[in-house]
Amino acid sequence: MRFLTGGESHGPELTGILEGLPAGIELDIDKINHELARRQAGYGRNLRMQIEHDQVQIRGGFIYGKTTGAPLVMAIRNKDYENWEEKWKERTLDKLNIPRPGHADLAGMQKYRLDDARIILERASARETAMRVAIGAVCKQLLALAGVNIYSYVVQIGSVKTEPVAEMFEEAFNISEASQLRCPVPETAEKMQAAIDLAKENGDTIGGVIQVVAESVPVGLGSHVHWDRRLDGRIGGAMLSIPAMKGMEIGDAYSNVERTGSNVHDEIHIVDGKISRKRNRAGGIEGGISNGEPIVVKVYMKPIPTVTLGMPSIELSTMKEKKAEYQRSDTCAVPSATVVCEAMLAWVLADAYMEKFGGDSVQEVLR
Ligand SMILES: Cc1cc2nc3c(=O)[nH]c(=O)nc-3n(C[C@H](O)[C@H](O)[C@H](O)COP(=O)(O)O)c2cc1C
Repeated sequence: MRFLTGGESHGPELTGILEGLPAGIELDIDKINHELARRQAGYGRNLRMQIEHDQVQIRGGFIYGKTTGAPLVMAIRNKDYENWEEKWKERTLDKLNIPRPGHADLAGMQKYRLDDARIILERASARETAMRVAIGAVCKQLLALAGVNIYSYVVQIGSVKTEPVAEMFEEAFNISEASQLRCPVPETAEKMQAAIDLAKENGDTIGGVIQVVAESVPVGLGSHVHWDRRLDGRIGGAMLSIPAMKGMEIGDAYSNVERTGSNVHDEIHIVDGKISRKRNRAGGIEGGISNGEPIVVKVYMKPIPTVTLGMPSIELSTMKEKKAEYQRSDTCAVPSATVVCEAMLAWVLADAYMEKFGGDSVQEVLR
């Protein structure tokens, strides 16, 4: 499968094309919209979220309630465009030429030879991830037919941490979904909220860590035979392609470094005639292949680069030192970004699933 997204943050709409889906999937559009609403919720976000009420429109590849096998074409309107349309047409928007450290502004302006960071930030903005969430929601529906479920949790905000979830994934997910922090431990969620509030009070921003889990993944997705078929590499690339995600861990990768091999690798036993593991430090992938255990990854999100107090930078038109200009921005987007991470995991697994079990119709795939 493959997908493309297009569209700017304050343009008329976001567009997505997903190719390679089998025919005959009865897509539930409400479920796609539910995922879009989840991305917009989450503690720490800005007022833009109150303007947008994202709804997907399907523009192709879907007839009489089912996928047709043709590219699935989707659109999400930017409601905020109504407030910008005139300004774009009249060209009355000020140029932004004091780049924000940590954003795409400076490198983008230099690369594309532009004197206005607005043109860069319109596409670098994480608004684009709304379409990825729609695409991921479709992939989730394909995976659900095969019994695969995806969950995510906020396990760290700033220095406030909780233990990653190791079992009862659905139960923990239901608890975290009930909280604006998406943390599975309510007491920790309160401390996380306080950390976000403090960052906001200080005119600053804060990052965190997201755990993403896929349960009931069949053995054999991905392959050891070639570098770009390894499932771990594909998940890593997909997660690091999400804006602001700077680290990514499969299983207990970071703490495994402090253990010896015999304490890391997941012993293989036979229980009731079945191959079984007592633990899952490998995070469900060995040799680039899913091994039947839950796929467990952690993704590390840096603090948002747009900082209210303004970071030292330069005004490019005068080459004088000035503080970076503040744009309407989130204080913390970790709880919202959980949904984007789920979407990207769903995309990689659906793609790998279609490689292994692929067919032209959903009946063929499931058979
Ligand atoms: C869901 C989500 C929301 C984000 N919101 C903002 C924001 O409001 N302001 C901002 O400056 N960056 C925000 N970011 C991060 C930037 O998009 C990102 O840092 C920027 O594009 C630079 O890319 P890089 O951090 O990957 O280098 C957000 C990221 C995500 C995933």
